[in-house]
Amino acid sequence: VITDRSDRGGISIRRGGRDEIPLLQPLWESLHRHHVAIAPHLRQLGDVRSPAESWAGRAKLYQEWLDEPDAFVLLAEHAGEPVGYAVVHLRAREESWGTGDRIAELETLTVLPAYRGRGIGGLLVDAVYEQLRRVGVAQLGVSVISSNRDAIRFYERLGLLPFVISYLGNVPRVPREPADREQP
Ligand SMILES: CC(C)(COP(=O)(O)OP(=O)(O)OC[C@H]1O[C@@H](n2cnc3c(N)ncnc32)[C@H](O)[C@@H]1OP(=O)(O)O)[C@@H](O)C(=O)NCCC(=O)NCCS
Repeated sequence: VITDRSDRGGISIRRGGRDEIPLLQPLWESLHRHHVAIAPHLRQLGDVRSPAESWAGRAKLYQEWLDEPDAFVLLAEHAGEPVGYAVVHLRAREESWGTGDRIAELETLTVLPAYRGRGIGGLLVDAVYEQLRRVGVAQLGVSVISSNRDAIRFYERLGLLPFVISYLGNVPRVPREPADREQP
């Protein structure tokens, strides 16, 4: 379903249909490899999943998100081939700050390695903002692997504010020793 098109430097941005999720597989797999490469400190969480296994889980989530109201996928295409994409769905408002009633979550933004640094990520974000203005959503959030410095620079340049710091670790197999606990 093509509902939006723009064209700059041979790159066109359009809304993708739910049936086009399979087109995203090679791009997701490239992002998966990028994440694994930049985050050796996370290996202790478990073995790295194969790209195909990673995609299987992600594709299922995309199906679920795209069934939600006002969720969308945007494709960046060059010569008719996808070279980047963004997936966005909506979540509830923040309770401590006066955000709008719904907040957009940028679940994936990625551009194929050979196409990075040419403004395609920026075009995708502009198109995301355009879609969000149409449905009256005023905030956008994104989670980034803590060691993904290039992406962090990209989001900070956009003016996004550092928000929560999220932690992930293994549950100890046995109860912690008293010596491992902080003294009261
Ligand atoms: C982050 C990303 C989507 C930005 O898209 P892009 O088309 O490269 O970005 P633009 O050309 O519009 O903007 C350039 C900025 O993107 C960032 N960037 C990230 N990776 C980059 C790369 N390999 N080459 C150049 N710029 C990169 C930088 O902040 C750069 O600004 P700089 O001039 O200060 O280096 C893209 O680089 C990418 O897919 N990175 C790997 C996947 C990823 O980390 N996605 C975010 C997951 S939360």
